[in-house]
Amino acid sequence: EKGGYPHFMLKEIFEQPSTLKDCIRGRVAEKGRRIIISGVMDNAEKFLNAKRVVIVACGTSWHAGLLGKYLIQDMCRIPVEVEYASEFRYSNPVLDERDIVIAISQSGETADTLAAINIAKSMGAFVYGISNVVGSSIPRETDSGTYIHVGPEIGVASTKAFTGQVMVLTLLAAAIAQLKGTKSPEEIEEIGKTVNKIPSYVEKVLKLNDKIERLSLIYTYARNFLYLGRGYSYPVALEGALKLKEISYIHAEGYPAAEMKHGPIALIDAEMPSVIIAPNDHLYEKIVNNVQQVKARGGSIIAIVTEGDTVIRNIADHVLEVPEVPECLSPIITSIPLQLLSYYIAINKGKDVDMPRNLAKSVTVE
Ligand code: M6R
Repeated sequence: EKGGYPHFMLKEIFEQPSTLKDCIRGRVAEKGRRIIISGVMDNAEKFLNAKRVVIVACGTSWHAGLLGKYLIQDMCRIPVEVEYASEFRYSNPVLDERDIVIAISQSGETADTLAAINIAKSMGAFVYGISNVVGSSIPRETDSGTYIHVGPEIGVASTKAFTGQVMVLTLLAAAIAQLKGTKSPEEIEEIGKTVNKIPSYVEKVLKLNDKIERLSLIYTYARNFLYLGRGYSYPVALEGALKLKEISYIHAEGYPAAEMKHGPIALIDAEMPSVIIAPNDHLYEKIVNNVQQVKARGGSIIAIVTEGDTVIRNIADHVLEVPEVPECLSPIITSIPLQLLSYYIAINKGKDVDMPRNLAKSVTVE
């Protein structure tokens, strides 16, 4: 059942080229020129008239939601808010018929997310679900939605569901942009064509496995980690930190890299490694500064960079190179080395990666 892998988590990490293929299937047509998300086409009026999108989710799904904000704002020019479902439900939210609420949940059964959906519906918002489990409560309770179709995820730490959620959010944003005309046909085609190549890029990233396994040995006994990123890499930093915490029980914090100087930089010393997500995007020059700031304080750095990077290579202690993609698609690529890093650190510590202590795969109580 684990397909020859020692743990479900590793199996699910390695499945991503094929789960992403399943997730994309039927959604990119005409050689990349058209994006087809039926939930958008069937509700075109709702999406054309939306004055705001509110995303609700928990945990890893909330991190995907934060990426959804960047994607939808950037491509569709609709303001987006992202809320923890547990906070949203008790926050006396302000919503009406022109709001679209997107609920993201792998299991489709998370109690707080379901409660948030019910509130949104009672206030007249249009509720859209992004889920993995066909026929689960969230797809049943929402007005429309999209399945991520990545197959059953057994490991408690979400891996293939996260990349599937981010892929669906990218396609959803592109489909809305196509409908609204906020992206040109050429821009849509660039996204569509790259989406089709993502499974093969992911295949390539997975070749970092042995290097990451070796690297993990150096960091197994660190007590704290910082994960830093900017723009599309900021939610990836949060997700990388969560993954390390939940399976290795090492304290890790994800932070927007430029917020460092407002406090956390005080923590940096030789005992505090930083994982810096620094692909070649429009914030690259900015994050180079942050890398230098960490180095100047004696911190060790593992950097995720784009193939061929020359600047950060000379500053960081270790670099993991990933293929170049347009920045809106980079989170799918840059999150994968972080999944492997947490996996190997947890394994080195002898932890049960598939069933970490105190956690359940689906949180059906509040
Ligand atoms: O099933 P859901 O996506 O609603 O679950 C939400 C969180 O409980 C979940 O993502 C959790 O944070 C994972 N264990 C993270 O790996």
